[in-house]
Amino acid sequence: MFIPKQNPKVLKALNEAYENLDWWKYKGDKAYELEKKFAAFHDSRFGVSVCNGTVALDIIFKAIGLKPGDEIILPAYDFFSLPKCVMNFGAVPVFVDVNPNNFTLDSSKISEKITAKTKAIIAVHIDGSVAEVDTIAKIAGENKIIFIEDCAQAHGGIYKNKRLGSYGDFSVFSFGGVKLVTTGQGGMILCKKEEDYHKCYAITNRGLLPNKKVNPFGLVGENYQLSEIQSIMALAQMEDLEEFGEQREKAMVFLDTHLDKIESVEIFKPFSGTQRRAQMRYSFKVKELIREDLLQFLLKKNLPVLKGYNSVNKEERLQGNFTKNENHPYSLQAQNSILSVFHPFLLEDEGRLMDLVDGIGDFINS
Ligand SMILES: Cc1ncc(COP(=O)(O)O)c(C=O)c1O
Repeated sequence: MFIPKQNPKVLKALNEAYENLDWWKYKGDKAYELEKKFAAFHDSRFGVSVCNGTVALDIIFKAIGLKPGDEIILPAYDFFSLPKCVMNFGAVPVFVDVNPNNFTLDSSKISEKITAKTKAIIAVHIDGSVAEVDTIAKIAGENKIIFIEDCAQAHGGIYKNKRLGSYGDFSVFSFGGVKLVTTGQGGMILCKKEEDYHKCYAITNRGLLPNKKVNPFGLVGENYQLSEIQSIMALAQMEDLEEFGEQREKAMVFLDTHLDKIESVEIFKPFSGTQRRAQMRYSFKVKELIREDLLQFLLKKNLPVLKGYNSVNKEERLQGNFTKNENHPYSLQAQNSILSVFHPFLLEDEGRLMDLVDGIGDFINS
């Protein structure tokens, strides 16, 4: 269901691959081609293809030398993987609340959380929203802290005339099953500096550099590569990323316009300068008291709606973690008020989009 429009280009590429492919990155050239194309498309210099987005975070943390006791600033409303990866290194996730307009990291609350131990800030483009990455990059730069952009949900996004993924020192993309480019599992790291590229590359590729020599950083590498066959799938989907991105953005504007007229629904307010959103999901807020009933009502009408994420500091899967008692009111509001649709819905015609609008209207008026 989540391959964009069951894209026939992917099937064709897979058929060709079956006949011709060298299945291993070291012999083939497709992973390298994808790394180059993906980085260039996202206004970035270097790409390292990896086996998933969660591992991409671990690789970056290893590359920056994250160690026990270091602190990483991240939004309290985000995906479970982020604090989990921070904790893998014995480092401390320092949560900052999100802004109430679009539920991305509140840049005005970052400075008060920066300490001598802060190693990096992560901004997450999530639930259709684009984080205020120019301001956050500036704060990170002024404090000599690394800035990581989580673009797992935001392939092809544009903010202030630059692609998402080009603002961070590092950025992370996922090619997981529900992503805008999917290879079932997979991901990509983008970065700007050659040394960072070599470090991430060596960690991913058993300690070797792209020229196959052993890395000079003393890094013991893992086997975290994306396969050739997955790279072929991603390359085929990249052909449509721009066109589908434009279509999805139009659908998001269409839904915004119509949902804005419905009482009990609040549309997100993107930061000015947002030109293409994190399109993996389109999301809107509804009153907390009606959300569950509305969700069930829409599902019965065959409308593929789902809830957002959790305020991660309250995540059951991070039980025992010291941050559980913290309060981040807007992250909690996001957890309790968001409804979303996944991106394939945004490629449907306007009649189908109106089904969602009408469905919500019917529920409110019933
Ligand atoms: C915002 C965000 N970051 C990171 C990830 C992790 O990516 P993966 O599922 O490829 O490990 C996801 C996955 O959904 C995500 O949504």
